[in-house]
Amino acid sequence: MPIMPASPDPCVIVIFGASGDLVARKLIPALYETAGCDALPNQTRVLGVSRTEMTDEAWREKLQPWVKEHAARFDDSTWAQFAKRLHYFSGSATDSGIYPGLTERITALSDDAKCGGNILFYLAVAPKLYKPIVERIGESGLVTEGRKWCSIDRENVPWQRIVVEKPFGHDLESAAALNLALGRVFEEDAIYRIDHYLGKELVQSLLVFRFANTIFEPLWNHRYIDHVQITAAESLGAGHRAAYYDGVGAIRDMIQSHLLQVLALVAMEPPTTFAAHHIRQEKIKVIDAIEPTPIDRLAEYAALGQYAGDEHEPAYHLSDGVPNDTKTETFAAISLRFDNWRWADTPFYLRTGKRMAAKRTQIVIQFKQPPAQLLRHFDQIGAEPVRASNQIIIEIAPRGGVSLRFQGKVPGIGVRLETVAMDFDYAERFKADPVEAYGPLLIDAMRGDQSLFPHRYAVEGGWRAVMPFLGEESSAIRQTIHANYEPGSWGPAAADALLQRNGRAWVNG
Ligand code: BG6
Repeated sequence: MPIMPASPDPCVIVIFGASGDLVARKLIPALYETAGCDALPNQTRVLGVSRTEMTDEAWREKLQPWVKEHAARFDDSTWAQFAKRLHYFSGSATDSGIYPGLTERITALSDDAKCGGNILFYLAVAPKLYKPIVERIGESGLVTEGRKWCSIDRENVPWQRIVVEKPFGHDLESAAALNLALGRVFEEDAIYRIDHYLGKELVQSLLVFRFANTIFEPLWNHRYIDHVQITAAESLGAGHRAAYYDGVGAIRDMIQSHLLQVLALVAMEPPTTFAAHHIRQEKIKVIDAIEPTPIDRLAEYAALGQYAGDEHEPAYHLSDGVPNDTKTETFAAISLRFDNWRWADTPFYLRTGKRMAAKRTQIVIQFKQPPAQLLRHFDQIGAEPVRASNQIIIEIAPRGGVSLRFQGKVPGIGVRLETVAMDFDYAERFKADPVEAYGPLLIDAMRGDQSLFPHRYAVEGGWRAVMPFLGEESSAIRQTIHANYEPGSWGPAAADALLQRNGRAWVNG
């Protein structure tokens, strides 16, 4: 019997920060899409909470053009049905005075739609508001799961869960403090730390690629793999977000969250089963096995950069709202190693940057060279001979696909070698475009499936791994980052040097 995923429970989704950008651009279009393909239970109600005074109707009108622009498909009748489920409550979420009224409103919506008292809170507010809002929710008495009822019989009791947006903390200390605050009100299995990379189809299919096949797993270790590269390059700059981005930077914005989650899926051991807690256990284990980076040799493990300017956008340090002497990195490449049996001595290189040559998110598994180079005297076609083959490239964006690159013989008399590829193109094979990541993740939260949501220990372990690159000790490698890479390039020269030191090179295409 195939295991069918549990169906999502109807609930009231209470979104704090309802008038913000994320809600209009991502959350509501994603919920609309799930409603459009009948994945969202009909009884589900959405209650936006924000300080701006607005009626239900005004909020719906405000959202409609955003959904039209950002949802994959839009039609008026689906919107008309969906919009009826959107409601609005105005008030400051950090003010305990609003909670009696808010509780009344949630209860009325839940009773009316027969949601059974289930509530999914969503924190789409500025991170500094997470803690006070969670405390107010706790004081309000809205969270009853595991309190009023015996928590063993969870089948028939209403649940309350919370989705927390990134950034999850600013450093290890603040992330741990936030986890503590959340843990005082919600149990760990009711906390959904959302990372939209884990909702990406190709990221999810990594688990299938690794564990539903026998051909890759025997090779998936230090004996056969030379190193792994995980790249998330963006062609856009910080743009109008520059003032916010400053003080955050590429390591916090992309590596601590998205890239470390991808790394965990590449490096983890096979889970005992595909149950969420088994997957999460393995991810925690592998993140905890990351070797601490020696802080006195940071330059051997990291290259940081800031983009220079051109006619389209000023240099990062000259952007509006950014101090001229800023040391915030818009590019980062770091090398991490694991202190465990599978990956001993196999570096994982993580790289991300703004204003780079292309939007490209990919994982490169670089296999070792043959032990004896029997064919070294024969002609090699192409610029990068053997190094460009023996690779598995898992492309996450812009195209979804997997490509296996190896050495082939060019037809003709004599032996000439060239890198050839076997290619799986996701969209072409399945005639489907990967869906927007937020929708499936929200449905998972309603199903109570935490497989794609990082555990508290995984988040803290991730922070532990990147802290050396962020603290005081990193000031030496930040000294010369101003405009040290050209827009449209693959980053600063130091990033190439990071790999060249060990005879390796970045794979950019
Ligand atoms: C966000 C970052 O989490 O991810 C942004 O805050 C970044 O700075 C974005 O642009 C990239 O996401 P994607 O899905 O386009 O790779």
